[in-house]
Amino acid sequence: MLHSSPPQFIDQLETPIPLVDLDRLAHNLDRMAAYCAVHGLALRPHVKTHKSPRIAAEQLRLGARGLTCATPRELEVMAGVCPDLLLAHPPVGAAKVRRVLGLDPSARLTVALDSLEALEPLAEAADAASRPVDVYVEVDVGMRRVGVSTPADALAIARRVRALPPLAWRGIAFYPGHVRQHLSRQDEALATLRADLSAHLALLGDAGLVPDVVSGGSTPAAWRMHEVTGVTEVRPGTYVYNDRATVELGACGWEDCALTVLATVISTAVPGQAVIDAGSKALGREPLPGGADAGYGCVLDRLDVPVVRMSEEHGILDLRATDWRPRVGDVVRIVPNHACIVVHLNDVMQGVRGEVVEATWPVTARGRTMPQWATP
Ligand SMILES: Cc1ncc(COP(=O)(O)O)c(C=O)c1O
Repeated sequence: MLHSSPPQFIDQLETPIPLVDLDRLAHNLDRMAAYCAVHGLALRPHVKTHKSPRIAAEQLRLGARGLTCATPRELEVMAGVCPDLLLAHPPVGAAKVRRVLGLDPSARLTVALDSLEALEPLAEAADAASRPVDVYVEVDVGMRRVGVSTPADALAIARRVRALPPLAWRGIAFYPGHVRQHLSRQDEALATLRADLSAHLALLGDAGLVPDVVSGGSTPAAWRMHEVTGVTEVRPGTYVYNDRATVELGACGWEDCALTVLATVISTAVPGQAVIDAGSKALGREPLPGGADAGYGCVLDRLDVPVVRMSEEHGILDLRATDWRPRVGDVVRIVPNHACIVVHLNDVMQGVRGEVVEATWPVTARGRTMPQWATP
């Protein structure tokens, strides 16, 4: 039987289900907005963490310059709330280029890319569609994922962009995802990053191509981006919810973890453990950075109780380090290792204050829905 009205209290919710602590969310949004304002950095948050226009609108209300997206779906959904979007993922392949360029023309579109192979077809399609597109050249400063590895390569691509209107070169982008040390131990990595970046900026400057924008900053590195000369913009994503990995990296405290998965203890039959109804399809199978044996999440307020093993719909709580003995039917809140994956696994988020469910909102930009193929 369908309920006629939505649940108002947490104990009415069917588990497993993601909860967002609304006070913690508000605090996290304020904290990053304030950091960027104090240091004169433009904030262009990555929406991959929340995938929700509701939270994006709040980020913009608090001063974000624009939004960062990784997928065409994220671009399409976020165009509904934001006129200034960055695709921080090279759009390669005719179908993807077509879809990206089909974005609402009233939205300013910037694309980050690192090759002429990605650039030329984009330029051709943008020209055919008379669609202005701004370009950041992606440079590698240590992550070894995407990004050109020499300043000369960055310069060559920037020059080519300038010869291909309606494309316009705006600057460079880098992702410091390799800076995964604790916040207090990032000095060495930041020194290398600073040196790499200044080599890029020097060559571009010598060639008369001073970038308008130098875009960087993950959540763990964002708090120290003001120490990296030349950076004008940061793109943190995870900071809205934070997670166990972010705590371990010293970029937030446990009290800043806004996202948990509410789960029910379904078995205590095996001594030394309790089984919950949240497995890999609720929590994601994400390791902690450098913590191969640390499990996949832990109980909020009982940090010595990790989820040590999972099946798809079962999570095993290890009770060996605690004298706490949960009973079948008890509910727990699990802090996941990686919040973004949990969001991606769910259609709807529940916003809570204390025991009260105050709001629900859809994870609208999840998945890859191809509009042209969707059937009603
Ligand atoms: C290109 C890019 N920018 C920004 C981010 C946001 O980083 P974080 O999740 O650490 O906040 C990511 C995350 O994957 C990314 O890939």
